[in-house]
Amino acid sequence: MTDRIAIVGGSGLAWLEALEVERQKVVATPYGEPSAPLTFGRFAGLPVVFLPRHGGGHTIPPHRVNYRANIWALESIGIKSIISVASVGGITMEPGILCIPDQIIDYTWGREHTFVDCCDAPVKHVDFSQPYCQQLRDILIQAGRRASVRIKTEGTYGATQGPRLETAAEIQRMHRDGCDLVGMTGMPEAALARELDLCFAHLSLVVNWAAGLGRGPITMQDIQKNLETSIESVKLLLRNMENGWP
Ligand code: HPA
Repeated sequence: MTDRIAIVGGSGLAWLEALEVERQKVVATPYGEPSAPLTFGRFAGLPVVFLPRHGGGHTIPPHRVNYRANIWALESIGIKSIISVASVGGITMEPGILCIPDQIIDYTWGREHTFVDCCDAPVKHVDFSQPYCQQLRDILIQAGRRASVRIKTEGTYGATQGPRLETAAEIQRMHRDGCDLVGMTGMPEAALARELDLCFAHLSLVVNWAAGLGRGPITMQDIQKNLETSIESVKLLLRNMENGWP
């Protein structure tokens, strides 16, 4: 058992430098290897376990992340709550915003998206009406307010397959569907956490206007620049988080 919270981090985790590393643990899982060893450490005094979703050297693309191994590994060491941090494109929100989404639409395909089809797991159909853990969302929202960072407290995350970015028409369709954000890693991570009964919330960093909504093409330079600013807001938010997660 552990009272640590897990942070699964995405692109541009320059803020890892703010993590005081205590130790690392390699975890073997029935689903293969997690993206990296689990890093135990302290972030602004809070005990955390950190897992870089795309691997230590950022070599694993969104559709190749072993989401099952990652979530299973965290659960196996007694983690109960996970904050997933990832950059996204904004459909109704501009770059610079941090959003704590409350809904998901899944457009991904061909990913290992359930624990139910392996290893004699019993068939079950988890309730996913509210895909994120409200208690943890509230903690993030309060921390964001205390930190005075620009947050949106609701939003629908549309998960796309990647690694390419979307077409303008795809984004228009997602907008009509009700998506506010677009990202490539939000699923099946959230659903797998629910299958294992973990409390899971997402911190979405809007780093670009989604395809067709900004001026000209989306460039990696723009994304990188916005990411660096957003990471500062994430650090501030996390520093303002009070221990007390489920
Ligand atoms: N689309 C999908 N994923 C993303 C984007 C985007 O525009 N920006 C950052 N991650």
